[in-house]
Amino acid sequence: MSDTDRRLMTLKSSLRETLIAPNPAPTDLAEGEVVLALDRFSLTTNNITYAAYGDAIGYWKVFPTGDDAYGMMPVWGFADVAASRAPGVEVGARVFGYFPMADTLLVQAEKVSRGGFADASPWRKAVPDIYNRYVLCAADRHYSPALENAEALFRPLFVTSYTTVDFLRDAGFFGAKRIVVSSASSKTAYGAAHCLAADDVELVALTGARNRAFVEGLGAYGAVHGYDEVERLPTGVPTLYLDLAGDADLRRRVHAHFGDDLKYDCLVGSTQSDSFTMDDPALVGPKPVFFFAATCLDRHRERGTLHAFYDRFLADQAAFFERVVDPASPWIRIVEHHGLEAAALVVRDLADGVSDAAEGAIIRIAR
Ligand SMILES: NC(=O)c1ccc[n+]([C@@H]2O[C@H](COP(=O)([O-])OP(=O)(O)OC[C@H]3O[C@@H](n4cnc5c(N)ncnc54)[C@H](OP(=O)(O)O)[C@@H]3O)[C@@H](O)[C@H]2O)c1
Repeated sequence: MSDTDRRLMTLKSSLRETLIAPNPAPTDLAEGEVVLALDRFSLTTNNITYAAYGDAIGYWKVFPTGDDAYGMMPVWGFADVAASRAPGVEVGARVFGYFPMADTLLVQAEKVSRGGFADASPWRKAVPDIYNRYVLCAADRHYSPALENAEALFRPLFVTSYTTVDFLRDAGFFGAKRIVVSSASSKTAYGAAHCLAADDVELVALTGARNRAFVEGLGAYGAVHGYDEVERLPTGVPTLYLDLAGDADLRRRVHAHFGDDLKYDCLVGSTQSDSFTMDDPALVGPKPVFFFAATCLDRHRERGTLHAFYDRFLADQAAFFERVVDPASPWIRIVEHHGLEAAALVVRDLADGVSDAAEGAIIRIAR
């Protein structure tokens, strides 16, 4: 902790605009307080979505700024414990969790166990517990320092990819034999495609012109099409729409084209929208159903299969991290950017929708 601590704040009314400002740092820690020094974090469209729903879902409340015009866009990453007055949380320990883009974060540690702890700060009650938990890497048997970049990028997303597929598979894909995936170049989408590799469903990717070559190169989908080709896709096969784009116009076109063949519309993301318009009178066919990972986890809890599910998930997730950065044929190129000034530029490109899908952005905090 130092008096040169800084933070990157986002202008709520224009997510591409940011401001680097001093980060208030405590002088003396109270009982239970811990200072986390952020080391590396990822930036993807998911972070822009957090900000886009900052008021609607409460993400702006998680890391208050004291200035109504600005919010802290949450990110996922790794930090080191810089100071601690919480028994069981040792200085120097490496943690993974949810952070503001700031040099340091002061948390009030509670529920400390060998595996991690939670931040009990009252403003964090705005979001589910999963966002407030810090994992102690030393106790995570799947943690690998060499895979930190892949983990920072994909861990927040792959849980959704994996639970979505588990939920759809459990429902027999609602009778579908084909899954049409929008924003197929997104990490959440191709994580799901990876999980579906052995299922008896055809995977059809929809993507923008500039990401098409990248999606084709992944080899994760059976076919790849541009958004302008929806009306030319073959019909006559029971189809499920896995929607990462959240684009209302695209949804209408997909529904109109597939008509009665469309069995289910699973809404996961909104890369191309900042509102979930599910009640659309112009929509033909099934109403979109928003997917929550909790839907899948609650079902396993009720059946007593949650433990087994987590074991399987964590092993498959570790294998996925290795796969995406496999030096022999990596799915993406991870690019490390240095400092909050660089983070501001990455945020701007993501907000403008001009990032290269072939690159995964990691920000390192210089010390
Ligand atoms: N429901 C959940 O719990 C949950 C969990 C995780 C993620 N998500 C959501 O899944 C979505 C994908 O996130 P991600 O981090 O995986 O994305 P990502 O890897 O950063 O990929 C983003 C893709 O979205 C499209 N895109 C982004 N910005 C755009 C813009 N301004 N205009 C047009 N297209 C744009 C592009 O794909 P195309 O060219 O292929 O369209 C781009 O390659 C986000 O909306 C995220 O919030 C939801």
